[in-house]
Amino acid sequence: MNIALIGVGNVGAALLRQLHGRAARVAREAGEPVTVLRAAVRDPRKVRDCPDPIFGYTRDVGEVLTDARIDALVELAGGEDWLPVLSSFLRSRRPVVTANKALLARHGPALLALAEQHGAPLRFEAAVGGAVPIIRTLLDSRRVDHLTYVGGVLNGTANFLLDRIAGGTDYETALEEARQAGFAEADPSDDVDGLDAARKLSVLAQLAFGAAVPPEAWPRAGIARLGPRMLRAALRPDERVKLVAEAWETTDGVTGYVGPAILPASAFLARPSGAENAVVIDGTPGGPTALMGLGAGGDATASQVVADLVAVARARRAADPVEHLMPVEPVEVLSPRLSARLVGLNPRSLNALWGQLPPGTPHDPDARLVGPMDARSLLALADRYGVHLLIERRGGALLQAPPAPL
Ligand SMILES: NC(=O)c1ccc[n+]([C@@H]2O[C@H](COP(=O)([O-])OP(=O)(O)OC[C@H]3O[C@@H](n4cnc5c(N)ncnc54)[C@H](OP(=O)(O)O)[C@@H]3O)[C@@H](O)[C@H]2O)c1
Repeated sequence: MNIALIGVGNVGAALLRQLHGRAARVAREAGEPVTVLRAAVRDPRKVRDCPDPIFGYTRDVGEVLTDARIDALVELAGGEDWLPVLSSFLRSRRPVVTANKALLARHGPALLALAEQHGAPLRFEAAVGGAVPIIRTLLDSRRVDHLTYVGGVLNGTANFLLDRIAGGTDYETALEEARQAGFAEADPSDDVDGLDAARKLSVLAQLAFGAAVPPEAWPRAGIARLGPRMLRAALRPDERVKLVAEAWETTDGVTGYVGPAILPASAFLARPSGAENAVVIDGTPGGPTALMGLGAGGDATASQVVADLVAVARARRAADPVEHLMPVEPVEVLSPRLSARLVGLNPRSLNALWGQLPPGTPHDPDARLVGPMDARSLLALADRYGVHLLIERRGGALLQAPPAPL
């Protein structure tokens, strides 16, 4: 199977290394050799830490697409602009593999519909959870279960930062350490404001509930500028804070949020450290399932791209090569009712805030606890007063049930 690759950065270079270093194993699993013929990059002259594609690098993506020798496209460049390129490739009835969560979060439903219409597989295991095989798990579970919950710790950068801050390091130093360790990009805003986790939640909600939700639609709080003193004051020894992204079905529709949450230290979702991710799904009759593993890093992520390529190669010989998914429909996300501990505000401003709560809202000023209340109103209130909120999460070891009133 001849591949065209777009993007040879962290993940693309690791893919070229793995396809080269494990060529015999991949060929055995795929049933044929898997060869990268051509790769499109921004700068073809850049020195790269990987074997070169057979016909080298180009800046011209069009050249890659029109090459009739190409059997499948792998897109590892990132960003939302690749929709026309991936669409046109699927229309040519050839498979596409991508790790692009930004694109899938917004255009996944359209791309999946095209894939089905033209009988060309679209696979994206590496887009959520890095090496954690959550997409396959969801697709398999979905065939037999009615899924009711999906949630997890989906952003390694935020996880690394929160670990360090809870350990006493200030936000800026933790960010610098994350950059040094390769866990944070030069501009980490999508990670620390929760947008990256929201994109992943959108992809998971498409598969779990058939719900097309743009990433901005989830009620969302980030972790920027959370400090060690705030966390020390807010957390008990048996508690941890994680950036959680979760969505669940209610009788009225789909609801969910992204935000820093206080979890019992014994909970599964409290376990991932550093760049690790953890995901829990629940449904009937299967019950809850939990997965954890490396959520980022070139090699970990590329391993799932290889897995997708093996699946695509096998599907080429199958009578029915595409995944048949349930229809994905646009839905309006309902705002969940959440409770939160408020941190990082002086007592005077906090007193003013209590006065602004909608009448009848449960709150405990001594514990700085508010709610349950509508998540969007809670976020607006926190914004207005410049206060951080840490969402209260309780439940059994897997926390797979939605947040319950305290
Ligand atoms: N890194 C991770 O741990 C991870 C984990 C899960 C998913 N992902 C996803 O995997 C994808 C790739 O991530 P990455 O970390 O490997 O990114 P990266 O290191 O920034 O690499 C991006 C690559 O795309 C190329 N590129 C950018 N714009 C291009 C254009 N217009 N035409 C042709 N090539 C272009 C760049 O070329 P140059 O090299 O010439 O600049 C570079 O090779 C993204 O969708 C990301 O969200 C990454």
